[in-house]
Amino acid sequence: MIPLDALPTPALLVDLDRLERNIADMAGAFAAAGVALRPHVKTTKCWEVARRQLDAGAIGFTCSTAAEVAWLQSRGVGDLLWAHIPIGPRKVAFVVDALLRHGGGLTVSLDSVEAARPLSAAAAAAGVTVPFVLEVNTGHARLGVEPSTAVAIAAGIAALPGLRLRGVLTHEGHISASADRAALESAGAAAGALLVSVAGDLRTAGHEVEIVSVGSTPGATSTPFVPGVTEGRPGTYVYYDANQTRVGSCTLDQCAQTVLARVASVQRAGRPIIDAGIKAMSSDAIAAAGSVGLVLDRPDVVFAEANEEHGFLLDGGAMPLAVGDLVRLVPNHACGTTNMWSHLYAVRGDHAVERWEISARY
Ligand SMILES: Cc1ncc(COP(=O)(O)O)c(C=O)c1O
Repeated sequence: MIPLDALPTPALLVDLDRLERNIADMAGAFAAAGVALRPHVKTTKCWEVARRQLDAGAIGFTCSTAAEVAWLQSRGVGDLLWAHIPIGPRKVAFVVDALLRHGGGLTVSLDSVEAARPLSAAAAAAGVTVPFVLEVNTGHARLGVEPSTAVAIAAGIAALPGLRLRGVLTHEGHISASADRAALESAGAAAGALLVSVAGDLRTAGHEVEIVSVGSTPGATSTPFVPGVTEGRPGTYVYYDANQTRVGSCTLDQCAQTVLARVASVQRAGRPIIDAGIKAMSSDAIAAAGSVGLVLDRPDVVFAEANEEHGFLLDGGAMPLAVGDLVRLVPNHACGTTNMWSHLYAVRGDHAVERWEISARY
């Protein structure tokens, strides 16, 4: 047990009480609705967290990179959904090899015949079948076929050898831009309903559709619970973050991930400089959020700007911060912050109780 005061700064902390509550609450909501929970692992990249999510009933994980897939397979996790297009010879070879070595347990995502062709050729040559879901654009306009083209594109991909359609997938990330929480929830439900209707079109066209997969933390209270959706893939919920407080997915006291930093200088009145900057927090969403993150227990202090290893605070002056003071910062985006670190401290109260490795970073 190390008191926070004795930790190096900056340090990445995860509050265990909050983490355990976030895991239990999401698992409980999904179990009550009979919807499978497949968390996105990119938020944590940490086996100690992933293990707790599996223990609470997660069916497996969503991954965004080959490194995440390889890492979880090495840990024996047998149900992974790689929610990205396996494009280029290295990723194609990786998918085929992963399926051969582990005897299955991996489903990939596709949204075009062009991207599917090399995968099909490699799979057919190796004598394996690659299970895939068709990604559908329900409004985020990133990956995904348009709903009206889904049947034709699914038919084109499914006709290729070595590939097997398992279902449909969407990421309803666009709903965060809604005007308020009620609008966000109805946009989430609309995205779920659109995906379910595409699944229906595919079934009518003769395909078996066993997976109807939605996924985001803002949508986790609406999209997965549309009848016909089979699984949800929230990731950020496990830590939450400042952005999620802004869209009403959580309150500040649910945020489990913080960066511990110290005031290094107060040479300019009202502008304390801390020893955590962009390399501790990531620069995700600073412009949109108007700050680098939130300062825990000090709503009067604004984390206004950051250089690489320096943070600029604006101190309201009610209780001026002094050189050497500790602050705890809630990042704008938990997933981006995770990717900056190689380990974190698991914290109970004001003591670090364990040091956990962060895996599968670039
Ligand atoms: C494909 C996909 N699924 C699920 C998620 C999880 O969403 P969130 O980070 O809002 O929990 C993401 C996040 O970017 C994603 O890209």
